[in-house]
Amino acid sequence: MSVDLFRVQPFRPPAPVPPGRRLGFIQLLRVLARNPLECWSQDFFSEKIARVGLPIGQAFVVNDPAAIRHVLIDNASNYRKDPIQRRVLSAGLADGLLSAEGERWDIQRRTLAPLFSLRNVRSLTANMLQAVDQLSRRWLALPPGSVVDVVAEMTLLTLNVLALTIFSDGLQGDLDEFRGSMNDYFRAAGRIGLLDLVGAPDFVPRPGGRKLKATLGYFQGVIDALIETRQSECRKNPSDQRCDLLSLLLGALDPATGRAMSPAEVRSNILTFLSAGHETTANTLSWSLYLLSQSDAWRAAVEAEAGEKLAGPPDTLFDRLTVTRAVVEEALRLYPPISALSRLAQGPDRLGCHDIKARALIVISPYVLHRHVSLWDQPDLFDPSRFLPESRRTIERFAYLPFGAGPRTCIGSTFALQEATIALATLVDRFSIALAAGAKVWPVMSVTLRPGAGLPMRITPKSNVEDVGRDCLPGVTGEPLPAALPRRISGRGTSRS
Ligand code: HEM
Repeated sequence: MSVDLFRVQPFRPPAPVPPGRRLGFIQLLRVLARNPLECWSQDFFSEKIARVGLPIGQAFVVNDPAAIRHVLIDNASNYRKDPIQRRVLSAGLADGLLSAEGERWDIQRRTLAPLFSLRNVRSLTANMLQAVDQLSRRWLALPPGSVVDVVAEMTLLTLNVLALTIFSDGLQGDLDEFRGSMNDYFRAAGRIGLLDLVGAPDFVPRPGGRKLKATLGYFQGVIDALIETRQSECRKNPSDQRCDLLSLLLGALDPATGRAMSPAEVRSNILTFLSAGHETTANTLSWSLYLLSQSDAWRAAVEAEAGEKLAGPPDTLFDRLTVTRAVVEEALRLYPPISALSRLAQGPDRLGCHDIKARALIVISPYVLHRHVSLWDQPDLFDPSRFLPESRRTIERFAYLPFGAGPRTCIGSTFALQEATIALATLVDRFSIALAAGAKVWPVMSVTLRPGAGLPMRITPKSNVEDVGRDCLPGVTGEPLPAALPRRISGRGTSRS
């Protein structure tokens, strides 16, 4: 590689400047409604454990790696997911892994874990690339230099990746409609308001509750129809086993009891994967594309790596893309999609020099932790070299938590990292993607941490995508591909102007 990536001048991507003092309660409510990222005052980025006074009682924001390890692993049974987080991230999906607790969670986790084994995830590389090909064809249909909202495009891409990996032949419906409903779902579920801060129980109706019920009804109808179709196909032709997550889910057995999942659990977990896995990964990709658009050196490094490494066996593709992966991991550090995890203490405990009472709220914010002055060198600067193989071993394990840690760590982390890395390398290889003139990029926390006003970017195909073959990948949504469009991108690794 011609440029020494350890000497590239880092830059400071957009982020709120923390206020010097804590916000008062009324101001906090206002800022929470607008952009919870702006709540964090300077002290949170330098204190190891910061105490916060809330009407619901004792709360602590924990940035000390040893204390985080204690909460998430060593004494994890004393710290349950708190109701606010459960409601915001998985409202209405009570039977799914994200919100289950106790014995029900235990059974589901051990039943579902094999689905996301390294071997299974690597074998899904081809389905992931298929979705990237479909997005590429969509972009090639646009006039060169068109401006698109990259957040919306990445959301469609990641939903499509999940559709193709869960159902192998996609959602069989209108993907855009599904994406729109997912948006409605997140907006309705994701509000943290006064009722949450005063600890009102779940049965007290929240704003947007009716909308939430309606969108959940729609999802359940779509998923039930897909499961029903698959089950009737299997009855007709038992030897027809698809290589997708639905087949694995329907065949998954609890290793301890040999029990299969109930239909409600299968449905809830498919919806959980779709909701937990698409917006998070879409934001990771959007931020990665934005950050690359601001750094000529890192963009050139990813282009060079993609040109050299994309060709070759799909199963080992992710492992070959070490520079691209470092960019994705740095994007996850600066803009962790899940910017706060919270737990409720079940009994008394001690963290650092603080006595923790039962029902105390423990907040671990990857956003704050990843920018903490005692844990990172120049934390606010974009510098993916931190994650290159030569330097990543110096990163403290509990200072970097985009996927959480411990028993409730993200079950889809390997899947997400692989998907984002191969999608980023492929898109950068095929297209010049530049920030549109006048675009204002600002991080906003709205369930996930996203560019607040979208991300308008100018897409121009590179010269290595002009020569295209005729072999067509099946359409995810069932819509015919426009006849005049190139069907497959070729010439990876060829020289470009
Ligand atoms: C960049 C993308 C992603 C990020 C940043 C992310 C982040 C997280 C985090 C931080 C947690 C832990 C929450 C806690 O401890 O309170 C979590 C849990 C979870 N994630 Fe992800 N996630 C991503 C992608 C995915 C994908 C692709 C899937 C599935 C296909 C997925 C499924 C889940 C599930 C089911 C849980 C709950 C696990 C449990 O409680 O046992 N996530 N995720």
